[in-house]
Amino acid sequence: MADLEQMTGDWLARIGAAGDLAALETERVAALGKQGVVTGLLKTLGGMSPEERQSEGPRIHALREAVTAAIADRKAALEGAELERRLATEGLDMTLPVAGASEGSVHPVSQVMDELAEIFADLGFAVATGPEIEDDWRNFTALNIPESHPARAMHDTFYFDRKDGEGRSMLLRTHTSPVQIRTMQSQEPPIYVIAPGRTYRSDSDATHTPMFHQVEGLVIDRGITLGHLKWTLETFLKAYFERDDIVLRLRPSYFPFTEPSAEVDVGYTIQNGRRVLGGTDHWMELLGSGMVHPRVIANCGLDPDDWQGFAFGCGIDRLAMLKYGMDDLRAFFDGDMRWLRHYGFRALDVPTLSGGVGA
Ligand code: PHE
Repeated sequence: MADLEQMTGDWLARIGAAGDLAALETERVAALGKQGVVTGLLKTLGGMSPEERQSEGPRIHALREAVTAAIADRKAALEGAELERRLATEGLDMTLPVAGASEGSVHPVSQVMDELAEIFADLGFAVATGPEIEDDWRNFTALNIPESHPARAMHDTFYFDRKDGEGRSMLLRTHTSPVQIRTMQSQEPPIYVIAPGRTYRSDSDATHTPMFHQVEGLVIDRGITLGHLKWTLETFLKAYFERDDIVLRLRPSYFPFTEPSAEVDVGYTIQNGRRVLGGTDHWMELLGSGMVHPRVIANCGLDPDDWQGFAFGCGIDRLAMLKYGMDDLRAFFDGDMRWLRHYGFRALDVPTLSGGVGA
């Protein structure tokens, strides 16, 4: 057994000389496979006297370990070299056009959400999110809609049977306004965010689906006025509809969580029987807005004497319909491939302000 050293040297040399993974595997089977040489040596241990086994056992095991480690090292080296070779030889030109027609498309709602994020990012707004399963404190109470308030009934809320750990009723959020509460609770002002997402109300016809999308806007800072709100909305809608002649009309309204509150109408004209946004011939209601109610600010632990702000909430599906010309909201969520092929967007057409957000 004195030639064990010799054997170890030979095997390490053979393993080191394996030129590729297949050759290495051949060496592994020859050494450690069922019929392998090292496996054969291990089997001889059974027939040895206890003294022999005590002296030879550790040497044979050391051989097996050395061979196993050498194979692992060689494998890593060969794989590393292969990766280097591929990195050096395989190129991918990211500027080439996509080959062939790609299946699938970006849903108009996703497209509009991307457009909104792009437009508002340019104005310094971040994107905030909140859960679709909300508690009634954030969806209603903190927004100055107490238990007995008629607005609760108006929202056609889907409730869950279970309450959360704090005994609050759980529901599917009826608007994105609870994200106002979450944002004010978790971030120090100044706050400039939009919060796009799914919302739910028990309602269904050509312009209402039980699940729909809203975008919330929230600004909390010092010295914020209704003027900032109007400018922000005008700038947003001009960029979104890609028209400079968008005119807004702020109509006094009521929301429990804003004071004063304004419903915002946008002017449009009729051209060839179609509604075209811009001008002041006709008006259509587009969104709700107002100055954040001091009580809402206080409910989030901020001092309303220090901090003021505005908020708005707008239907995203509605924005998509107005810009891209769909007239039945229900088709948005039918999953009909023909509709998606017609109205969907190419995945690589990422909206940018410079390219026109709807390009
Ligand atoms: N949450 C309101 C709705 O769903 C919209 C809104 C948001 C109004 C923010 C004012 C301020 O109708």
